Amino acid sequence: MYSKTATGAPVTVPDLRAFKHRAEKIVSMTCYDASMAARADEAGVDFVLVGDSLGMVVQGQSSTLPVTVDEIVYHTRCVARGLRRPLIVADLPFMSFRDPATALTNAGRLMAEGGAAMVKLEGADWVCEVIDTLKRHEVPVCAHLGLTPQSVHRLGGYKVQGRADADAQRLLADARAVQDAGADLLVLECVPAALAAEITHELHIPTIGIGAGPHCDGQVLVIYDLLGITPGRRPRFVKDFLAGTDSVGGAIAAYARAVRSGEFPGQEHGY
Ligand code: KIV
Repeated sequence: MYSKTATGAPVTVPDLRAFKHRAEKIVSMTCYDASMAARADEAGVDFVLVGDSLGMVVQGQSSTLPVTVDEIVYHTRCVARGLRRPLIVADLPFMSFRDPATALTNAGRLMAEGGAAMVKLEGADWVCEVIDTLKRHEVPVCAHLGLTPQSVHRLGGYKVQGRADADAQRLLADARAVQDAGADLLVLECVPAALAAEITHELHIPTIGIGAGPHCDGQVLVIYDLLGITPGRRPRFVKDFLAGTDSVGGAIAAYARAVRSGEFPGQEHGY
């Protein structure tokens, strides 16, 4: 069920980097409650993300922007009660990391009150100073580049990023910058598979793809997408793992197996 090096002991931040060095795929999904967390744990997921996607898939909002730190703390605490082995990454929502002091306060809450072991934040540029501050205060950080949903208004929609040469070069430079600032992990969302492969090869920290092709060090999916129950149009990178299984636990286990074997994502799920 687990990757071959896992013993059932809780996954740690250094374990994630070790997975990359051993070329073992890292399996992740979003999670917002204790019951789903227990299913993720049983299925051998390596880390769960308490994502601000909860604003859209749980609360029914049209973007992630209204999500608050209190809400992420609440859901992180719920998730923590259902888990033994997977590491918990919690999202810093829109504006909650706008400067290093605010980021420290809010990251501290996600860890101390919620039980997260790592926080995730979107962007590069000025975000690098925030990452550096968090790292110096013992907060492990997951960066997030490519399609960053908190930038939906600037981007003009939920679109693939890094297609033009100049944009691809910029993304590669941003990936190096967040790593140099101290990020432990990097989520790449909706970028061409070839670019994600190049970034993954360049960096020594693990990359976790969502709509970023098969060459990232791991994969993450929104749990409701994985179960095929998110309303509306299904993005190309999503696969319904409940189809073909007879339980939620079976679907998560099928997803974990498909990621570890390299079967998911296939060509048809990428850009
Ligand atoms: O909020 C979220 O769920 C995310 C994933 C889609 C990576 O950021």
